[in-house]
Amino acid sequence: MEKPQTSISMSVIRRLPKYYRYLSELVEKGVTRISSKEFGRILGFTASQIRQDLNCFGGFGQQGYGYNVKELRDEIANILGLNKNNDAIIIGAGNLGQAIANYSGFRGSGFLLKAMFDINPRLVGISIRDIKIMDIDEMAGFIEEAKINVGIICTPKEGSQGVADRLVKAGIKAIWNFSPTDLNVPGDVIVENVQLSESLMVLAYLINERDRI
Ligand code: NAI
Repeated sequence: MEKPQTSISMSVIRRLPKYYRYLSELVEKGVTRISSKEFGRILGFTASQIRQDLNCFGGFGQQGYGYNVKELRDEIANILGLNKNNDAIIIGAGNLGQAIANYSGFRGSGFLLKAMFDINPRLVGISIRDIKIMDIDEMAGFIEEAKINVGIICTPKEGSQGVADRLVKAGIKAIWNFSPTDLNVPGDVIVENVQLSESLMVLAYLINERDRI
């Protein structure tokens, strides 16, 4: 297989999880190969979009054959790094932090939750699905000892930058940020922001647009 391009646009990267999800479903159904046209129909993309996207990584299809579903699924998993384990901690063990801890689906994405941290003494010592909530002051030592590489921030907006600073100081290079604030971190630290409310605003806009017609 050709070596992938070094710089792939984020819009392609953001489509890969959808490819992965549909391909996994096809594998489960026993489908062994699929044309770009058929795959596009299922995903709601054009065949040329799919070919273009997958060509960014060296192309996986064969003229007249289409794509080998399992091979393509495994390659995408590889590109996304799903086969590697990332050990993560949650900071802020409130409603959202606990909901994330209760969701078992992250394991399939290679993320293993190792502990949660909070400032509230009433939460410290409790376990959520065997994941212990610890005092925030134990965080730096835990990160070093357990070789944690991902911090998931679920604290209120006001405290989030301080939490990010502590994570960075402890050596964390990847943050999944749920707090509604843009974090200031050094250039070598990756931050992926998730905002349900922004998605909701897009929905509001689309409803608004539809009702205007
Ligand atoms: P919550 O009040 O239930 O939980 C927050 C927890 O953080 C509390 O247990 C509190 O003791 C702890 N905490 C506060 N400061 C801390 C610090 N400096 N270090 C460690 N722990 C600290 O709040 P909830 O509902 O869980 O929301 C948490 C955050 O997530 C908020 O910023 C909220 O806006 C955000 N959120 C984001 C969503 C998204 O889609 N990105 C969806 C829902 C909430």
